[in-house]
Amino acid sequence: MISKTSSDANWWRQAVVYQIYPRSFSDANGDGIGDLEGITAKVPYLAALGIDAVWLSPFYPSPLLDGGYDVADYRDVDPRIGTLAEFDTMMAAFKQENIEVIVDIVPNHTSHDHEWFRAAIQSKPGSMERDRYIFRDGLGPNKDQPPTDWQSIFGGNAWSPSGQNDGQFYYHMFDSSQPDLNWDKDEIKEDFKKTLRFWGDRGVAGFRIDVAHALTKDLSGDLPNWEQMVIMSKKKGENGNADLKHPTDDRDEVHEIYREWRKVFNEYDPPLTAVAECWVAPDRKHLYSAADGLGQAFSFDMLTCNFSAAEFKECISFSLESAAEGTGQTWVLSNHDVIRHASRYGMPNFVSKNHKEMWIEAVAWLKNGFEGLDKESGLRRARAATMMLFGLPGSTYIYQGEELGLYESTDISDSQRQDPSYFRTKNAKVHEIGRDGCRVPLPWEAEAPNFGFGSGKEPHLPQTSWMKEHSVDLLDKRPDSTLNLYRKALNLRKTLQTAERLEWVETGNEEVLHFKRPGGWEVVLNGGKKAVPMPKGKVLLRSGGTSDTEIEGESCVWLQN
Ligand code: NOJ
Ligand code: CA
Repeated sequence: MISKTSSDANWWRQAVVYQIYPRSFSDANGDGIGDLEGITAKVPYLAALGIDAVWLSPFYPSPLLDGGYDVADYRDVDPRIGTLAEFDTMMAAFKQENIEVIVDIVPNHTSHDHEWFRAAIQSKPGSMERDRYIFRDGLGPNKDQPPTDWQSIFGGNAWSPSGQNDGQFYYHMFDSSQPDLNWDKDEIKEDFKKTLRFWGDRGVAGFRIDVAHALTKDLSGDLPNWEQMVIMSKKKGENGNADLKHPTDDRDEVHEIYREWRKVFNEYDPPLTAVAECWVAPDRKHLYSAADGLGQAFSFDMLTCNFSAAEFKECISFSLESAAEGTGQTWVLSNHDVIRHASRYGMPNFVSKNHKEMWIEAVAWLKNGFEGLDKESGLRRARAATMMLFGLPGSTYIYQGEELGLYESTDISDSQRQDPSYFRTKNAKVHEIGRDGCRVPLPWEAEAPNFGFGSGKEPHLPQTSWMKEHSVDLLDKRPDSTLNLYRKALNLRKTLQTAERLEWVETGNEEVLHFKRPGGWEVVLNGGKKAVPMPKGKVLLRSGGTSDTEIEGESCVWLQN
């Protein structure tokens, strides 16, 4: 067993956490799939980057029908990714560098390969095995119609037949290979606590909780139809109305589970941490980040912002003001579910009226293969926005490859796609391209096979020729590369960051955002195209430009006063 790397119970509050998508990070044994040994080999790289922790997306046994978010066994490692012994070796390597490790917990659903679901399918309707999931009788004389018209998040109906000719269907919020668990059952509750302790005992510092808002459900009584469900979700969004008892989303009972988990976290010294992935109305989020619950909830608002100083300012202010007492902020611009921000910000000629529109537009644009993508501007803006983010109080999550200035890949043929949303929306009004483009394996060495991702088989998702220019070994040698900007910013941040709130400076220009942090540290983002005068102070770092008197368009500077 490996003891924890840090004795500071507050280590997570200002931490920079690097998200590793294990299958696409580094492939040590050359089978085309990233693995734990590959991660261990790159610990020195991560240490030099200046991060405090890594979050590993799922590496558990899985049929990989949703990139591992379809877990067949919560307390083991997928043999294609490694072994528990290799996990321990990786932990020891991170411990040596004082890097904490966070793992993903996927409690809303299992894989259809989980032994519970296999037993459920083989058991009779009404059995205790079926009761671990959400089975219902089908409608119609032959019981062959789904119980409701509810839609899966990946498209299509959210109910699939048991396949046993017994008239039953099971509910799956995501893919049909991801049956939802019945969280009313004590057995499920106990088993997940066992999983938390299993990884806690192996030295992990905390957890990222997948779809944290959806575990508890109430499917008793008359069920609303899909249209009513959508209205209910919107109403919640409008006024955070907890009285609207949506049958599957953001129900108050879910916090009873997290209060129990908090007791498990507190069995450790320092206590384990958690961060909720929750897509809920803004004024319901503090419930997830409550100190007696998960403690943190991702602030996703920034994901849907344009590159706009005014929108950023609004998002930041809202997040800071709505945070519950004693809980942490978690900022994020990219992750494995969204279009990489270097591409998002390169969207051509689009001026949104509000930030939600930008997101819809970006997804539609992805479908057209990013026609007209302004790569230069996209990366320039991404670097500026990232530097602004690193200047904020709270914890920041970065996604593997963003430090290399990677764009979303559009060079994936239909036969190479893996994302279930691509397959499930084929006949829908909007056929989604899916999320494979941000999950392409990383380029480490420009001249090596597979750009150094692995020396054997081709990567499980295709790399493209332009990725060569983003290889770690090339960027390492260029002082102004995005990689070196991240390194400088993160290492500087260690000396500058405090828990203190920021203080806005009035700029008199909507396109310029300026805030002060304690110790004379100031962050200025010029969101406009034209250069603006440099405020007073010594330039500590800048995302672009060289002038002493001006901040170039679409760039960010850190000043010391
Ligand atoms: C959220 C995860 O981030 C995403 O990748 C996954 O597909 C769904 N949850 C379902 O687990
Ligand atoms: Ca491998």
